[in-house]
Amino acid sequence: MIDFSAVTEATAPGKIILFGEHAVVYGRPAIAAPISQLRAKATITHSSSNNCYIVAPDLNRHDRLQDLPPDDALALAARQVLDAAQIAWPPDVTIYVNSQIPIASGMGSGAAIAAAIIRALAQHLQRPDLLTNERVSALAYEVEKIHHGTPSGIDNTVVAYEQPIWFVRQSPYNQIEPFTVAAPLRFVVADTGVRSSTKIAVGDVRRQYNEQPARFAQIFDACGRIARTARMAIETGSVTQVGQLMTENHGWLQKMTVSSSELDRLVAAALEAGALGAKLSGAGRGGNMIALVADDGMETAVRTALHQAGASHILTTILA
Ligand code: PMV
Repeated sequence: MIDFSAVTEATAPGKIILFGEHAVVYGRPAIAAPISQLRAKATITHSSSNNCYIVAPDLNRHDRLQDLPPDDALALAARQVLDAAQIAWPPDVTIYVNSQIPIASGMGSGAAIAAAIIRALAQHLQRPDLLTNERVSALAYEVEKIHHGTPSGIDNTVVAYEQPIWFVRQSPYNQIEPFTVAAPLRFVVADTGVRSSTKIAVGDVRRQYNEQPARFAQIFDACGRIARTARMAIETGSVTQVGQLMTENHGWLQKMTVSSSELDRLVAAALEAGALGAKLSGAGRGGNMIALVADDGMETAVRTALHQAGASHILTTILA
């Protein structure tokens, strides 16, 4: 018997893309890692109103599930679980959503919020079969379509598995491989403060690819080669090489037109301050960049430079 009065809670992390964003949509490999200190949380409590509510104070949202349109991301996350559990009428609950992950900034906030809602609701409905990483990722992927248009699946995968992953979009199953990080990688993550729509950036790359397929295929191939070499460098602890490959990847992302003056300024500032490498991370045009640093001294210098260059939020995350 399900105890509908219980409170259930679940969280999911933000993420950074180390290598291969955009090219990953076209089947080239990419590498992503979770940022566990930035999380989205969903809490489910019993509601006495005979309705299912979704409440997200940060987004100024307080809605009845049944009133929300099919393309509402929060509602779709909940409906994915109800459909998978074959529950026709939603339970009388309130789903509270809050998130520390900045939205529209390349940190996977949409995927993390979806994964948190899916996990909390599946747990509330006592459906462990819907709680595996694979299932959570698959359900969150459906929500990602609203945010991305044609998502590769990397965001929902990395936030559901919560570990560094090697990802290749392919049929019938994506290649998803957790891999070894031989030497810790310390990343400074800095926000341009500019919000950018993933859907628009992904759509613009698609349009350019359709206009110049050969040129863009070459750019995507170069990003794929970089991701392959980077995986070997990460697995063998070649930290300096990882940095160089990041900067190289940024150059190809500029050619895809997904960088911006703010991102380029932060990347240049990090490199001038001695970072081993730097690049935009995520869909680009705004959002976050990442810089690889070797030690405390380099981290301090890079953080100071990023701050002076106008970064609005700066954090450090270590991949070990
Ligand atoms: O949502 P973002 O900014 O983390 O971008 C996701 C990465 C892209 O490669 C640009 C899109 C995708 O679906 O892989």
